[in-house]
Amino acid sequence: MFEDLAGKVVIITGAGSGIGKAMAEQFGEEKANVVLNYRSERHMDAMESSIKLIENAGGKAIKVQADISKENDIDHLIQTTVNHFGTLDIMINNAGFEKAIPTHEMPLDEWQKVIDINLTGAFLGAKAAVNQFLKEDKKGVILNTSSVHDKIPWPNYVNYAASKGGLKLMMETMSMEYAQYGIRINNISPGAIVTEHTKEKFSDPTTRAETLEMIPAKEIGEAEEVANVARFLASDLASYIHGTTIYVDGGMTNYPAFMGCLLYTSDAADEEDSV
Ligand code: BGC
Repeated sequence: MFEDLAGKVVIITGAGSGIGKAMAEQFGEEKANVVLNYRSERHMDAMESSIKLIENAGGKAIKVQADISKENDIDHLIQTTVNHFGTLDIMINNAGFEKAIPTHEMPLDEWQKVIDINLTGAFLGAKAAVNQFLKEDKKGVILNTSSVHDKIPWPNYVNYAASKGGLKLMMETMSMEYAQYGIRINNISPGAIVTEHTKEKFSDPTTRAETLEMIPAKEIGEAEEVANVARFLASDLASYIHGTTIYVDGGMTNYPAFMGCLLYTSDAADEEDSV
């Protein structure tokens, strides 16, 4: 699909499940060299099956354990990648975490955990990737998996919304610093996507119906639909795209409550006709 991705070296953090797993498998389809990062051993089986898929598609893959919120672990992740594949072309800071807690009850460590994984982890990953790109004089690509909650407030998820809002300006600021070296940095912001993590809530009929109310396309998205955007943004076809966010959300960020105005407009027009 995107021929220039063949042979490129891509790190995907949080590749053991959900959107990260779909990205890893799609980069495999492009015959890329994929480094699947994970933190928890419970993702081992899923990762082994992704690695098989990638290799069967003609790509290469290794898995590297690292806690992306720790600088030493990130350095180990990049170093292992470069030792194994010789270089780094694409860094995808995808690992994320969310848990609902009302703000007035949120312990500091819960606030900190989400900020550490979602924001500090992406900062450390992006910083280390930029250093590697500068060292190699390479026009590398950095993508961050953000969220529609980089602009939509989310009650009970103040730490998550703060982390994603921060990730937006972090990405834009870094892009402004490094675009001059040909380094492209962009965010992908998914809306409601079915993954291992969200499957349960979206199979609850009430939650599902409430969620669909907020989506003009009236569909919950698939991880593959997000991963497709990562392939495109990482490819040379996106060569002039710097410092932007692509929302993959069925229109969720587009003020769906205003869909009611479609009716209002036609009623108003009828009234006018009858005057
Ligand atoms: C979250 C999902 C949520 C969606 C829309 C995403 O960032 O990960 O759990 O359904 O935003 O609210």
